[in-house]
Amino acid sequence: MRKRTDLIGLKSQKTMKHFLITGGAGFIGSHLAERLLSMPDTAVTVIDNFDDFYSSSQKHANLQTISEHPHFSLIEAPITHQNYLTKILRNQHFEAIIHLAAKAGVRNSIDSTKEYYDTNVMGTLALLEVTRSLSIRKFIYASSSSVYGENPNVPWRETDTDLQPISPYASSKISGEMLGRTYAHLHGIQFLALRFFTVYGSRQRPDLAIHKFADLILNGQPIVLYGDGSTRRDYTHISDIITGIEQALQYQGAGFEAFNIASGKPVTLQKLVSSLEVALGREAIFVHREEQPGDVFQTYADLSKSQQLLGYQPTVSLEEGLREFVQWKTALPHLTL
Ligand SMILES: NC(=O)c1ccc[n+]([C@@H]2O[C@H](COP(=O)([O-])OP(=O)(O)OC[C@H]3O[C@@H](n4cnc5c(N)ncnc54)[C@H](O)[C@@H]3O)[C@@H](O)[C@H]2O)c1
Repeated sequence: MRKRTDLIGLKSQKTMKHFLITGGAGFIGSHLAERLLSMPDTAVTVIDNFDDFYSSSQKHANLQTISEHPHFSLIEAPITHQNYLTKILRNQHFEAIIHLAAKAGVRNSIDSTKEYYDTNVMGTLALLEVTRSLSIRKFIYASSSSVYGENPNVPWRETDTDLQPISPYASSKISGEMLGRTYAHLHGIQFLALRFFTVYGSRQRPDLAIHKFADLILNGQPIVLYGDGSTRRDYTHISDIITGIEQALQYQGAGFEAFNIASGKPVTLQKLVSSLEVALGREAIFVHREEQPGDVFQTYADLSKSQQLLGYQPTVSLEEGLREFVQWKTALPHLTL
């Protein structure tokens, strides 16, 4: 795998579009790196510290298909190391930074709030400073549906400023957006906050519901269902998310904008589990518990703004998306059946 010592050469940059992806070894980032590298004359540099939130071997596996690509580079470092990053990237010309690195996960943020703020807020600030120093004009930020929190006015619109976060993770994502808005205003950076809604598909983080449920069902263990199964999520397949990011990369408008990137078709927890049972060809065993603090009742995106300004239109149905996920999951060598 290419480390910092052999970043893409200056010569090749003149004919190439070069993108900087933070968190590029993770679930969404590795899919994005792969999609961008499949295009001609495109180079990708990933910054990732292989954070221990989940196994670094899964993250190394995520990069396997692109690790030998001649236009791929990896910088193994934390995003908070602003001076170091500015120094080693200073001779590179980037079209855009796509900032996906974060401490993700709602529940853990309740007990590890400082770590979440150090990475999600101070890390975003450090990268905005790197962006200024390197004169990068475009900053795409992975925000989250969790910023809407308990706002009851569904479907949620980006124009609705009544954000009601109920977890430190959600408030850290709002803080990142607000930093971006300020930097866009002061320094003329185009800052696009993409509010992703529950992303699933191959390489999904192991802490997320679909992946966790699949592990339990495959191992014949009970699924703990919090609440009565009527909570709803706007599950979005990874390929629609990546298309949304690509469309944001094309977007020409100036300043700060927020966009919902979702399926726009929320389903109940009950429906999700029954669809997963069909995809896996196995039945689930259930244990019911009370709802968890930090979890919202529903997520539901209005997509009219992202459709109108980005041309975003999700195409993958839940059934198709779950089939793709299960195909990946069941092909993993270490799976216990
Ligand atoms: N997956 C979802 O459903 C979802 C929904 C909404 C928003 N998001 C956001 O999208 C982004 C990507 O999420 P994901 O699901 O791919 O998560 P992920 O954990 O798979 O990827 C994040 C990557 O960031 C890296 N990272 C963490 N801290 C870092 C640091 N200090 N320095 C450098 N790298 C660091 C991790 O090692 C990891 O590879 C995150 O910002 C997340 O908040 C995800």
